[in-house]
Amino acid sequence: MNIYDSQRMGDLAAEAGYREAIRVEDADLIVLNTCHIRERASEKVFSELGKLSELKEERAREGRRTMLVVAGCVAQAEGREILRRQRAVDVVVGPQSYHRLPQLLREARVRPGVVDTEFPADDKFSRLPTAPTDAIRRRGVAAFVTVQEGCDKFCSFCVVPYTRGAEASRPSAAVLDEIARLAGAGVREVNLLGQNVNAYHGLDTHGRSIGLAALIRAASATPGICRVRYTTSHPNDMSEDLIRAHRDVPALAPYLHLPVQSGSDTMLKSMNRRHSIADYLDIVGRVRAARPDIALSSDFIVGYPGETDADFGQTLALIRTVGFASSYAFKYSARPGTPAAEMSGQVEEATKAQRLTALQELIEDQRQVFNRGSLGRRLEVLFEKPGRREGQIIGRSPHMQSVFAEGSRSLIGELTEVEIVAAEPHSLRGRVVSPAS
Ligand code: 5AD
Ligand code: SF4
Repeated sequence: MNIYDSQRMGDLAAEAGYREAIRVEDADLIVLNTCHIRERASEKVFSELGKLSELKEERAREGRRTMLVVAGCVAQAEGREILRRQRAVDVVVGPQSYHRLPQLLREARVRPGVVDTEFPADDKFSRLPTAPTDAIRRRGVAAFVTVQEGCDKFCSFCVVPYTRGAEASRPSAAVLDEIARLAGAGVREVNLLGQNVNAYHGLDTHGRSIGLAALIRAASATPGICRVRYTTSHPNDMSEDLIRAHRDVPALAPYLHLPVQSGSDTMLKSMNRRHSIADYLDIVGRVRAARPDIALSSDFIVGYPGETDADFGQTLALIRTVGFASSYAFKYSARPGTPAAEMSGQVEEATKAQRLTALQELIEDQRQVFNRGSLGRRLEVLFEKPGRREGQIIGRSPHMQSVFAEGSRSLIGELTEVEIVAAEPHSLRGRVVSPAS
């Protein structure tokens, strides 16, 4: 979602007369779009700001002014504190008010140190300029579109409900207009984004609320769009309609990122996830019945307060039971203001590190198993860009695997049938069979 937001801020800057700079040294405007999800991500912001403030001084000595903006969830969470820690910052703007960036920049030119971390009543999306065609082309044939933002789930470890705010869905017509515009400029795949995307309930043109499955059907009917994805989903919002869409909508990619966080019911309860492992396995069973070749992925947190060796063992067991195509694992990171940060039983760093290593090994084994399962198969690959070597092109399989092959650049943007001939550590090697459509 930060990539999407950065692109939209790029569109705003373009409207205000800026062009994209290749090197940071040449930039008159620098926006750091930040993440607050774990401590490491947010600490990185301050070290980066240190370097950028030196660059700003250097440019000032050459008579060039640099506007320095901190956007995103660190901006939202830290607000004015950012200005206190780093005086070189001109604007601090949260994820719900970045549509005001041009105005904030004008204010900051007169009086540096402007902070806007409101959750405004006005709809940010309706105030954003449409992306220029050349910018869409530069960004490639697979695009992100935010359809839902914020979260009302309040998992005990997570800052998102505080930084992104309450759950809100964009009206379906606004989303579909954006997708049509992207498709008109050459986009072939859209990834519908939301912190809790399967809780989507946008209004249609008749003022009725529609769910994610209906939105997916409409998106996949957009001329030019040949593949639709969505991320990230919560198990409790995995509706029967959405599961059916995996069976009935050919353009819906057979891939589901469905974070479970832990394999222990005790941990899930303490995390306020409000579902059990049995519920999760039931969903996985129904999704696989609807779409047997679906690739599943998940997020896992190790070292959540109170997690014992036995709880952790249950996470490993769950992973073995499900068999994931790819997953992400994180050490629990206490976030200020969240209930879990105050809980007793905080786990030692060394234990977290050990569990993370064990989990990552298992995840990696399963990824390799899944990739080897593609050997000899024919997959539809959407080629996205030239490869590192001359004559190579790179794209993604329906299951999100990176695939490269020898082929003409004219295949970029084409859904192409590819036979998988080798599984390398980070990607699959394929042979182009024929353009599939
Ligand atoms: N510590 C570690 N991981 C976290 N995540 C969210 N909050 C935290 C935290 N405090 C992880 C979850 C979520 C993913 C986006 O980030 O696994 O699914
Ligand atoms: Fe955070 Fe996701 Fe839980 Fe919402 S559902 S609080 S975004 S982990």
